[in-house]
Amino acid sequence: MRYFISDLKDHVGQKLELKGWVYNTRSSGKVKFLELRDGTGMVSCIFYKGDKPGECSAEIFDGFEQFTQESSVKITGIVRQHPKHQNVFEIGVEAAELIQRAIEYPISHKEHGTDFLMENRHLWLRSKRQAAILRVRHEIVRSIRDFFDGRGFTLTDAPIFTPSACEGTTTLFETQYFDEKAYLSQSGQLYMEATAAALGKVYCFGPTFRAEKSKTRRHLIEFWMVEPEVAFNDLYDNMELAEQFVEYVVQRTIKNRAEELKVLERDVSKLEPIKGPFPRVHYDEAALIIKKENPNFIIGDDFGGTDETIISSKFEKPVFVHHYPAAIKAFYMKEDPEQAGKSMSCDLLATEGYGEIIGGGQREDNLEILQRKIKEHELQEKDFAWFMDLRRYGSFPHAGFGLGIERTVAWICGLPHVRETIPFPRLYGRSYP
Ligand code: 4AD
Ligand code: MG
Repeated sequence: MRYFISDLKDHVGQKLELKGWVYNTRSSGKVKFLELRDGTGMVSCIFYKGDKPGECSAEIFDGFEQFTQESSVKITGIVRQHPKHQNVFEIGVEAAELIQRAIEYPISHKEHGTDFLMENRHLWLRSKRQAAILRVRHEIVRSIRDFFDGRGFTLTDAPIFTPSACEGTTTLFETQYFDEKAYLSQSGQLYMEATAAALGKVYCFGPTFRAEKSKTRRHLIEFWMVEPEVAFNDLYDNMELAEQFVEYVVQRTIKNRAEELKVLERDVSKLEPIKGPFPRVHYDEAALIIKKENPNFIIGDDFGGTDETIISSKFEKPVFVHHYPAAIKAFYMKEDPEQAGKSMSCDLLATEGYGEIIGGGQREDNLEILQRKIKEHELQEKDFAWFMDLRRYGSFPHAGFGLGIERTVAWICGLPHVRETIPFPRLYGRSYP
């Protein structure tokens, strides 16, 4: 039978075998300690020379030096309750064997520069902190799926090779599709509009690509996005859905991943109040708030990172900004018939300056207006012929949004940069390892 560190509480007093890697070692003369990790947890393996249960031979005790950092090992011993700490266990080692002795490990337990760590990302992932982040990410992904699956949504994933731009042509990744040009998907949205007409409530969840030629702490070149789309929802239904969704994801993650968030030293009291309703601020109102603190801001423009922080600093909950000028939003956004020049868009800005985590809104459902928008955005109508059909055959009001996974992980974990939120980040200027 295989045993894992996470299961030790059920085996106190038992002799068993664990396999894993050496995280750390220390010695205090008569006792030697090997900190073992197996991916499910960490446990102190205690080497003490003797012939009682939970003690080891002189040969094993004296061979301790071979267990270099990150060597893979097999440890056999008795599971014991830690003498001082409740729910902490240790192993009284009887036998220890190398599986492979690691050569000098490049990442020590001291500080390293970011470039060095990024270059060694494949090894850096073994640290306690990185493992904690990946577990939180997993919980976020699971909670996202559970939220939609539990509410009658159907997962209808979108293609990655696409014939056209969804979010503007400046960040498109062009590639070859046999004899034709194709682009890596910037968003699955347009396809979700089609599947929403088939299934009512749908979502896609996958990688998306943007050739963002700048280094910021919020942008990745390849990032994951979840995109729900709901037939007959309007802008206001859309904000309500986004609000319930974000509350669910945050509350479930802080409940189920409290231990990992502690490793990350996240102040969870800042996340506890993330419960609906979230404030809703019209673009015009938001622009005036920003203008007061940032005189360089031009009303009518999109917000920069610092502008978003000005808005979010006014609230202890995430805040929706809605009705952005149509001119700064994508071609598919519906213009509000009652507010000339304003789109029925909504972005959700996270707390504590983490910026936009959601972008979405109500879609243009009128064929003629959409044709005009496509021209105005200098897009090719022929690439969108199929998309126009959705406005020809039972056009329907509909709305949806996209939540960026990495920005959400950064926010919930309290990380200053998105580069640590995904196992192998693709950044401007880095596609290795
Ligand atoms: O605001 P965006 O561009 O919206 C869309 O793509 C819509 N088509 C979504 C929809 O309505 N179905 O992107 C949505 C979210 C952003 O709010 C942000 O969280 C994330 O995706 N995002 C990025 N995350 C990391 N790196 C980047 N380069 C990102 N670009 C967008
Ligand atoms: Mg956006």
